[in-house]
Amino acid sequence: MCGIVGYIGNKQAYPILINGLKRLEYRGYDSAGVAIYSDDLYIYKRKGKVQELIDYAKGKNIKGTIGIGHTRWATHGKPDNVNAHPHVSGNGRLTLIHNGIIENYALLKEALKKEGHVFESETDTEVLVHFIEEIQKRDNLKLEEAVRIALSKVVGAYAIVVMDKQDPDKLVAARKASPLVIGIGEDEFFVASDPTPIAEYTQKVVFLNDEEIAMVNRNGDLQIKTIEDEIQTPFIQEVDLKIEELEKGDYEHFMLKEIYEQPQTVADCMRGRINSKEGWIKVGGVDTTRDRIFNAKRFIIAACGTSWHAGLIGEYLFEELARISVEVEYASELRYRNPIINSDDVVIALSQSGETADTLAALELAKEKGALCYGIVNNVGSSIARLTHAGSYIHAGPEIGVASTKAFTGQVTLLSMMAIHLGYERGTIPRSYYLQLLEELENIPNKIESLLKSTKKQIEFIAGEIKDADNALYLGRGYNFPIALEGALKLKEISYIHAEGYPAAEMKHGPIALIDENMPVICIATNKSAYEKIVSNIQEVKARKGMVIAIVKEGDTVISKIADYTIEIPDTDEPLTPLLSVVPLQLLSYHIALMRGCNVDQPRNLAKSVTVE
Ligand code: G6P
Repeated sequence: MCGIVGYIGNKQAYPILINGLKRLEYRGYDSAGVAIYSDDLYIYKRKGKVQELIDYAKGKNIKGTIGIGHTRWATHGKPDNVNAHPHVSGNGRLTLIHNGIIENYALLKEALKKEGHVFESETDTEVLVHFIEEIQKRDNLKLEEAVRIALSKVVGAYAIVVMDKQDPDKLVAARKASPLVIGIGEDEFFVASDPTPIAEYTQKVVFLNDEEIAMVNRNGDLQIKTIEDEIQTPFIQEVDLKIEELEKGDYEHFMLKEIYEQPQTVADCMRGRINSKEGWIKVGGVDTTRDRIFNAKRFIIAACGTSWHAGLIGEYLFEELARISVEVEYASELRYRNPIINSDDVVIALSQSGETADTLAALELAKEKGALCYGIVNNVGSSIARLTHAGSYIHAGPEIGVASTKAFTGQVTLLSMMAIHLGYERGTIPRSYYLQLLEELENIPNKIESLLKSTKKQIEFIAGEIKDADNALYLGRGYNFPIALEGALKLKEISYIHAEGYPAAEMKHGPIALIDENMPVICIATNKSAYEKIVSNIQEVKARKGMVIAIVKEGDTVISKIADYTIEIPDTDEPLTPLLSVVPLQLLSYHIALMRGCNVDQPRNLAKSVTVE
């Protein structure tokens, strides 16, 4: 949460910072601000989106070749102009941007007040910059030394960039539990929360590790040291990010683009990993940790949000196909309840961003307890990818819409491949079924493509019918139960309609009391097993005058007679159903949100990357 960006070099900093902030806006959009140094320090900050800042800074002095910028997701202090970053030290010398939370800020603030510091904002960040100033002043230290000492006394999470107007040839950046990347150009450096603001200038990056401090100088020097003052050798990597992947192209919204990219992203996730004709499946991370994965007593899947829903599908897949016992945990719960995790467990962290604070912390705990830690991650080089013993990227490309879509299908594709692979190798599925599943998995991209075309008009129509509802219920059984949860989450996130997902049979234990003619009930009913049961559930809804929208498989003649609306999707093997059944629900939420005039890509109060607990 919060996006930070910095630049030092020969170019004008302002346009680079503004472009960077636009790319990072998915991380928070409560306020935006920049600080630029030329003949003096110029700071502009505004409540609201980056565009507000651009409008505000128009006509003002924005010249300078060094600067820092921030887009905020508010934690301490309401979103307003005063709480917006950058924050300035009491003597006006230092400016700082921050992503994270300084947990001991109240104690530090009290101590600093006693020293005569006066604070303007309610933020923990302003306390940090005053604290660095105090340390710098006291011993007349260089900026990097003052930052290092200050951070060694700070409790919490941070990614920061600091600028000193008495030394405008240098930026100092540091991280702990919030991401930070340094971009290395020709005589210039970039600093950012992720590589997206950097990629159009250079593909050469260094991902900072926890408790590392980087100093980037105008003379081309990059130095990294730890908080304990040990010099580190920068590990320079090439990122492969294409600008088109970061733009909306012809689509009105990133979310729509990302929904429509799914035939491609699911294919990309499988590329080089399966071949049904030759009958093989290779998942790199699984092969390198083969013994521990194959002999695992239990898998524990830790995740948050949409990734947690993908994890639930993983549970159904691994248990059915590979007969491995699985527990799926909210990472935030797992980390705080002294869980039983043993060295013969495999802990799988599922995360689009690879930066979710709770998932990272759960992994650290699992590592301490000796489990094998496996990451299924989208963002290359992210913290989770680096913390795990092994793992697999889903290769969905940058996902920018706050509501996750293509990352979800990427995660489910990867989990499906792992489960099929393990099932076959462990002898829990016969070769004929293994080959059938491989072939069917290879057909999924085409099936998504065809359902995107065939259901478009109908979904728009249904969206119009239910857009004014206050509540909605999503029901599914088996593999479609997590899809019911995900469908409801998508609707809540972007249209602000209250929605709940339920196992269809559980409806009778509560939600049925809510059903009347005003309640749309979305039934995901593509199942082959327990088909009659879900038909009965739909009858129960209809008997109470609920409006039923059913997702069914092609050629279904039974449910279409009972439901008010049916959306047909191609048939597939049951374990692979979620890869298809989720897509109409993504589109339905998208169209409803659009018709309600909501900001689809940047829904209120949410952020894409949740780097605070
Ligand atoms: C936030 C995002 C969700 C995402 C969740 C977990 O809530 O808005 O889209 O599913 O975080 O994020 P992760 O990056 O770990 O998958």
